[in-house]
Amino acid sequence: MGRYERSKSAILLGFLVLNLTQLVMGRFVVEKNSLRVTSPDSIKGTHDSAIGNFGIPQYGGSMSGTVVYPKENQKGCKTFSDFGSSFKPKSGAMPNFLLVDRGDCLFALKVWNAQNAGASAVLVADEVDEALITMDSPEEERSSAKYIENITIPSALIEKSFGEKLKKAISAGEMVSVNLDWREAVPHPDDRVEYELWTNSNDECGFKCDMLMNFVKDFKGAAQILEKGGYTQFTPHYITWYCPQAFTVSKQCKSQCINHGRYCAPDPEQDFSTGYDGKDVVLENLRQLCVFRVANETKKPWIWWDYVTDFQIRCPMKEKKYNKECADMVIKSLGLDLKKIEKCMGDSDADSDNSVLKEEQEAQVGKGSRGDVTILPTLVVNNRQYRGKLAKGAVLKALCAGFEETTEPAVCLSNDVETNECLDNNGGCWQDKAANLTACKDTFRGRVCECPVVNGVQFRGDGYSSCAATGPGRCKINNGGCWQDTRDGRSFSACMDHEGGKCACPPGFKGDGVKSCEDVDECKDKKACQCAECSCKNTWGSYDCSCSGDLLYIRDHDTCISKRATEVKSGWAAVWVILIGLGMAGGGGFLVYKYRWRSYMDSEIRAIMAQYMPLDSQNEVPNHVSDDRA
Ligand SMILES: *[C@@H]1O[C@H](CO)[C@@H](O)[C@H](O)[C@H]1NC(C)=O
Ligand SMILES: *[C@@H]1O[C@H](CO)[C@@H](O)[C@H](O)[C@H]1NC(C)=O
Ligand SMILES: *[C@@H]1O[C@H](CO)[C@@H](O)[C@H](O)[C@H]1NC(C)=O
Repeated sequence: MGRYERSKSAILLGFLVLNLTQLVMGRFVVEKNSLRVTSPDSIKGTHDSAIGNFGIPQYGGSMSGTVVYPKENQKGCKTFSDFGSSFKPKSGAMPNFLLVDRGDCLFALKVWNAQNAGASAVLVADEVDEALITMDSPEEERSSAKYIENITIPSALIEKSFGEKLKKAISAGEMVSVNLDWREAVPHPDDRVEYELWTNSNDECGFKCDMLMNFVKDFKGAAQILEKGGYTQFTPHYITWYCPQAFTVSKQCKSQCINHGRYCAPDPEQDFSTGYDGKDVVLENLRQLCVFRVANETKKPWIWWDYVTDFQIRCPMKEKKYNKECADMVIKSLGLDLKKIEKCMGDSDADSDNSVLKEEQEAQVGKGSRGDVTILPTLVVNNRQYRGKLAKGAVLKALCAGFEETTEPAVCLSNDVETNECLDNNGGCWQDKAANLTACKDTFRGRVCECPVVNGVQFRGDGYSSCAATGPGRCKINNGGCWQDTRDGRSFSACMDHEGGKCACPPGFKGDGVKSCEDVDECKDKKACQCAECSCKNTWGSYDCSCSGDLLYIRDHDTCISKRATEVKSGWAAVWVILIGLGMAGGGGFLVYKYRWRSYMDSEIRAIMAQYMPLDSQNEVPNHVSDDRA
């Protein structure tokens, strides 16, 4: 491309920019949040401040701090550690909000330096008396891109006059306390949040495109959950510009625009002679709009997120796949009706309006509480422009703030919007470290202490000092918080697995059932084994009695009887006994024998007998025992 052509393209771009500037001058609403000075009394009151377009505003929450104005590096353009300054709050002190002056460097750099010096928020004082503007991140500067991503603290621009007041109070030695409040930053008119993302299919514009693509990829899951649950209504939008009338037949307009100069996008490489043209971007934007419309008609608007992410992955400009063939392949793979999408896109060569893109151009102009859309990407939540980092957690926080408290969907109370308050001392909530259980829940409104539900078992308690499993299945989890122990292959548990069950030591133990159950020494005071000939030996959870000499102990009756049969030791021995028993059953002494036999069988053998001797009806056995006892 010759020098002449270059300058001509510059002129054209100039026109596009001019159009954009006209839009900007039309009406641009700065999202304000309220900043309230709580002390000193002389400057108490609420002031406007414009939320910066990076960092993470605490949507739905508020934040208090002390304003600090540095003695050196007052514009915050240099690293504060070079001046030996730190704004980390001393333990127990309020967070520090650093006040810096506007000018000399990027807003984002000031905020980055402040964050590194330990400040919790930044107030940038304007240097001229003017209406507040939004502090945006720079369009395209690779070196700053890296740190902008890491800015987490919120920032706000304040008016010059207010800045002076703050400085005056600080220099007079006053402690200036302020409260930044984002609770009303997102209106919540009903139980559904409407939001729009102004985006672009161009994947080669540097930092902003990368950020946008990463956001769409990260946010897709949450967006789809919210949409499927009917919690949100999402609409994607695409900005287009038009070619000035005088240039519609120029080569440049032809390569940047469709429909005879009506809908244009800047050249992706900003070089008209190579690679893709603006026209390709407009066409793909139009296709993505049509994908949304067709998906929306089939009541599955969330397919747009799948299409956009799949297209990014499968059809990048870098691999020269940013074209119709590749797009059609993605559309087919998602089961969308290709014909309907083509019909929606219309004829891009026609010298007439395209209804879809015309609507987009009209939507670009602000209405109600929302200003004109001029910054790409732009997120609009409940018709308010979102300010802050375009990242999953931050955006989810803003969407969640759009719900009335208690109507927010579960995803708002999930890990996706962590405040990390649980990391610090478990947020002051109950926890069982051994079982890895906690009552601390990170939500976008801050942490809450709430007893957990684990594997379907509800824990109940105040959430701060106590939580205990309740209901069926409670013993499966950490043994219901009750005592349990195993020794020599024998296990005992103090958990009662039924509704309202408490911890109680099992028979043979005593204690609180929670921390400890002590073995009861049944032999002490001759409580067990009271028969004359027997001796008692305590075991863990039970006891053993044995009779002296050749006698056999019968536990049910606490008595010793003489041994007749061979010692009964195992199942096999039992079978032998049964065989002998059966043999004897044939004999005349059967009835007599049966009586004696029964009277010394322990309960285990009786159970086996029940299986091997159908002659005996089972309920005869206990009857007999009670006869015996009577
Ligand atoms: C930003 O954070 C990432 C991950 O925490 C880190 O690897 C990177 O070095 C940080 N960038 C800057 C400029 O500090
Ligand atoms: C999507 O569908 C809903 C109703 O199903 C409708 O209210 C909304 O306007 C549609 N959006 C677009 C962009 O067509
Ligand atoms: C504790 O549980 C959390 C999630 O429930 C898990 O991410 C973590 O790895 C667990 N930690 C241990 C030590 O088991």
